[in-house]
Amino acid sequence: MSALFYSTSSMTRNAFGACPSPVLSIRMICAVLLVLIPLVVGLFVKDTAHSNETAKAVGANACAECHTKETTIWKNTRHHQTFREMPRSKKAREIGRKLGIKRIKADPLCLGCHFTKRDKRGAIRVTAGISCESCHGAAQNWIKLHSEFSGKPNKKAETASEAAQRWKQSVALGMIRKDDMYGVAKNCYGCHVVPNEELVNVGGHPAGSPFELVSWSQGQVRHNVWYNNGKQNALASTKRRRLMYLVGLTVELETALRAIAVATKFKGYAIRMAHRADKARKAMLDAAKRLPDIPELGSIVEDAHEAGLKLNNKKVLMAAADKVAATGKALSARYDGGKLAAIDPLIPGKSKYVGEPSDSN
Ligand code: HEC
Ligand code: HEC
Ligand code: HEC
Ligand code: HEC
Repeated sequence: MSALFYSTSSMTRNAFGACPSPVLSIRMICAVLLVLIPLVVGLFVKDTAHSNETAKAVGANACAECHTKETTIWKNTRHHQTFREMPRSKKAREIGRKLGIKRIKADPLCLGCHFTKRDKRGAIRVTAGISCESCHGAAQNWIKLHSEFSGKPNKKAETASEAAQRWKQSVALGMIRKDDMYGVAKNCYGCHVVPNEELVNVGGHPAGSPFELVSWSQGQVRHNVWYNNGKQNALASTKRRRLMYLVGLTVELETALRAIAVATKFKGYAIRMAHRADKARKAMLDAAKRLPDIPELGSIVEDAHEAGLKLNNKKVLMAAADKVAATGKALSARYDGGKLAAIDPLIPGKSKYVGEPSDSN
């Protein structure tokens, strides 16, 4: 954990030290230093991006009825364990004390990223750690629909257009499917970047995980067991991992730009987030150089570059984040990874996967 805390001076150098050499048609302006004029406003708590809406979560037990293997796998992840372990840890109590929080499991701030909450007859109950619905969307409105074959007795009896309609409606009702890579990644980064100034600066909470989408999704979290009937817990395909890498970087940039936009003080949080944005942008630049035929990558680098990683720049940073997001969504919809082999050397391999994937057999 301590590796996440950098001293201010070294962070400033790391984040803004070297200007990348100009390539492609990308206009290169060196990242502007964070301006040292903190706004004198109260700190506020920003809601995270994930879609764990209180009233609509049904809880992992409801999924386990059919998704037995996925549930077994999930129970071996930090996402499951955090429920019991985090509130008891010394670090948690320390963060709670600094923020004036007495009951960690009941505090909306901690709930947002560490727990799944359900609304049981008007009372909020915390039922699990980070669970199925933290990533796939709160399910009350789509759980039945997605699993029933449009009123037909089985999948074979359902026509292709009925199935397409069923998925379309499930998504409209809040389901996040695996083909919506941008949507899935937004949830991961919404928690893992920890875009909350007070939590980091006042609470002393880690300012984000060293998160990267391929390596963090293909280790302990991996549960590709449904569509092959549990025969194996399949590694995402090479093509898919290429796209994951690029989509992950894009979402990281978007999330970090928004995180800087709401920063008010030239302190740990703002510096860490600026460092993060800068690093993601440089990694994207590297990918863009290797893939000159994919114009979206250059646009993302350019839009992020022009924003100016400084305080009191909310409008510009949010607008840049919007542009990056729009291009990223197009990227995720337009390519299947087939033409992206040139970035293979950049994609983290098995030795970098976070935690052992479970075989679930
Ligand atoms: C009654 C059984 C049942 C329950 C309960 C159930 N599912 Fe499913 N789930 C299915 C079936 C069947 C499919 C595959 C449908 C198909 O092949 O068209 C599926 C597919 C999925 C997929 C894959 C979607 C994709 O991208 O293709 C996800 C994710 C998923 N379910 C999540 C959940 C979650 C989360 C819950 C609990 C909130 C849940 N399911 C509860 C039966 C169920
Ligand atoms: C924006 C999302 C977010 C919020 C809000 C949040 N956390 Fe975290 N927390 C994380 C992430 C992500 C990690 C993992 C960091 C890493 O990779 O090491 C983490 C790690 C921790 C850890 C260290 C791991 C452990 O289990 O001991 C503690 C303690 C912790 N959080 C406590 C809290 C407390 C207390 C609150 C409420 C005041 C809170 N967190 C709110 C995202 C969040
Ligand atoms: C940390 C976020 C996260 C959690 C928690 C999570 N999922 Fe997933 N799920 C994903 C991602 C990401 C994918 C796509 C992975 C890939 O392409 O490699 C996925 C894929 C799936 C699939 C399709 C698998 C296949 O065979 O292609 C199903 C079904 C599913 N999840 C159900 C569940 C259920 C049920 C739970 C709870 C027991 C759950 N998920 C918990 C993120 C999550
Ligand atoms: C609702 C917030 C949230 C979402 C969404 C989320 N995570 Fe996490 N994740 C956490 C927190 C908090 C921890 C740390 C828990 C702890 O250590 O107590 C964590 C831990 C992890 C770990 C374990 C790290 C370690 O050091 O062992 C992995 C791997 C991981 N997450 C991957 C993912 C992936 C991949 C996604 C998206 C597909 C994702 N997470 C989505 C909050 C989230």
